[in-house]
Amino acid sequence: MPIKFDSEQKQFHLYTKKFSLVINLFTTRDKNVVPLIRYYGAPLKGLYFYESEMFANGFDTQNTTLPFALPTSGHGDFRPLMLRVRNQDGNDCTLLNFIGYEIISGKPQLEGLPSTYAENDGDCTSLILHLRDIYCGLDAFYCLTVFEEIGALCTSVKYKSYSNHPLTLERYSSVCLDLPSSFDVLHLQGAWARERSVERVPASHLTCKIQSNRGASSHQHNPFVALVSEDANEFTGECYGVNLVYSGSFSIEVDNDSYSRTRLVAGVNEENNFWTLEPGETFQTPEAVCAYSSSGLNEMSNIFHDLYRKHLCRGEYRDKVRPILINNWEATYFNFNEEKLLNIATEGKELGMELFVLDDGWFGKRDNDTSSLGDWYTDMNKLPSGLLSLSNALHDMGMKFGLWFEPEMISPNSDLFRQHSDWVLHAPNHYITTSRTQYILDMSRRDVQDYLIDCISKVLSENKVDYVKWDMNRNFAEIGSLDCSGKTCAIPHRYMLGVYRVMEEVTSAFPNILFEGCSGGGGRFDAGMLYYMPQIWASDNSDAVSRLKIQYGTSMVYPPSSICAHVSAIPNHQTKRQTPLATRGLTAMSGVFGYELDLTNLTPEEKEAIKTQVELNKKLRSIIMHGKLTRLISPFEGDHNLCAWQFTYKEDVLVFAFQILQNANNLSPYMKLKNLEDGLYKDISSEKVFDSQFLENRGLRLPFCRPGQQRDGDFQAALYQFKKIEA
Ligand code: DGJ
Repeated sequence: MPIKFDSEQKQFHLYTKKFSLVINLFTTRDKNVVPLIRYYGAPLKGLYFYESEMFANGFDTQNTTLPFALPTSGHGDFRPLMLRVRNQDGNDCTLLNFIGYEIISGKPQLEGLPSTYAENDGDCTSLILHLRDIYCGLDAFYCLTVFEEIGALCTSVKYKSYSNHPLTLERYSSVCLDLPSSFDVLHLQGAWARERSVERVPASHLTCKIQSNRGASSHQHNPFVALVSEDANEFTGECYGVNLVYSGSFSIEVDNDSYSRTRLVAGVNEENNFWTLEPGETFQTPEAVCAYSSSGLNEMSNIFHDLYRKHLCRGEYRDKVRPILINNWEATYFNFNEEKLLNIATEGKELGMELFVLDDGWFGKRDNDTSSLGDWYTDMNKLPSGLLSLSNALHDMGMKFGLWFEPEMISPNSDLFRQHSDWVLHAPNHYITTSRTQYILDMSRRDVQDYLIDCISKVLSENKVDYVKWDMNRNFAEIGSLDCSGKTCAIPHRYMLGVYRVMEEVTSAFPNILFEGCSGGGGRFDAGMLYYMPQIWASDNSDAVSRLKIQYGTSMVYPPSSICAHVSAIPNHQTKRQTPLATRGLTAMSGVFGYELDLTNLTPEEKEAIKTQVELNKKLRSIIMHGKLTRLISPFEGDHNLCAWQFTYKEDVLVFAFQILQNANNLSPYMKLKNLEDGLYKDISSEKVFDSQFLENRGLRLPFCRPGQQRDGDFQAALYQFKKIEA
């Protein structure tokens, strides 16, 4: 068992190949027994020492400095807290004492929430710490799960009230890390069309907060932070990554105290989210995933990738290569008819594509974005023979059929709104803000959830649908609900629970459908979504150059098998940039590959090139899907002009390299490969054989500016394919 309790030392040791975590049951000066994090870092062989007691300085109580595993409010700990409970007396004094523990094989299911799971016995082991607040009548079951082989730690808390009065959970976070030194904070920031840029903030004595209060994990911030040592980079240094398995409003706080120690607390955003716990009720927090690496960011990312590919994503497509799709959005927007769609699909089929996706505009009377969300029945003006006839025609030509939905939304101009205006998420007696001319459905209502489950299921079962793109194109404004106006009712969190219920019902009723998440591009790219949908549209920005940063940043946490990327037309619709088709292809091929342009407008040369790209992707996609990703050159560093990443799977190694702007009269630098086994590697195109030591230590000169070589201009890309050969 990778979890041991030492009764003499009163401490738990959770250990894996990648980390050790030591939690000690500490008796405070006031005789409370509390779990403290004594050590979290590189794996320990078994001997570990710690200071016998933390200090209290001058003004501070002992609680100001103790590294609590589950810090609570109202007893002299002034750092970010995991739990704040408002009790019947109106105060927030909350004190959890240790009562007992359990070590179990596997992990408990988190009811109604997405979470990591064990597939086989022995995949993971959990420690459940039972803590009790006797003053307000609350039990906490803090679950810490270790995935031994992968080296990941997952945490969540279940609360149970045994009070005679309602208790209000004002804050209910999922994890707290208390570490004895300072760290830089690395996180992913952005906006629509430039999601998940890597930003690194040097250690300081400030409390920083990364959050979304938008109702979705958001384009602006991702529910991920890595605490990294000053010397850390992709290949060396300590990194503590924390990611929430949650898709709604979240917050992650990092506090560096006056003794330069760091506390990180992550969980549901408390804004508008106070949860009333009635006597006898339980409450489950979302899960947090922690990935520790002592050798840089790549290893941290690989822990997240391995865990998410095997123990978070589910369904038929978890392990299956994904079909190469052609999506009509950037080809036609709302302006299409059946003939146009079939022409694009026919071209796609000829070029080797496998799935045709009909995006927005097929339902109600939707000729632009001002109407019809909620009316999930076919627009017979645009598609007079109906969806089934289109689906049949596609299947007859050997293409799969995919369909777009935006289930959580409702247009003011829709039949659904005319029938159920009360279903809109709103604050009673208050103006309702529109965004993209749409309102949000109150997903906390059971009747709304049931309506969506029924009508989406009807469309899917009647029209032989093979793929669904689940979009969500606006954020919250007025938060309230006719169901519970005036009460503290945690609408943002209940909204997410409602969304998760609908997703669970629909995805489990249609296990053979491939679901893809989306939110105005990548506004809800998170681990919560990956539980229901193994792939997510990364950004509405399909420009290859912009995509380098977006995909690089996304891969900090999420596996390439989840990052959808398409080749689109030039000039690019978002940036007007003109990039070579080969560069667009190699960029998109680094994730889940597809096309999104009008294939009926291609020149014969472009058709030939696309056919070759599609064939190449079919050969390489299983390496990209299952392989280990190593980021080699960051587009966020240096002069931001180069980017490279490597996929290693069994004896295959692929390296994708990109140069943004061309320089005159210089030489490209060498690029060193990583994670090779000792031996010989053959470059498939040149047939040259390289020693792994050479590739790792000297490296390859990037092909963009070589001595005497003709310059190819801006936005170049190169692919190297190596195979390990017998010596
Ligand atoms: C936003 C998505 O990200 C796009 O790909 C497209 O599906 C539009 N919505 C459709 O409205």
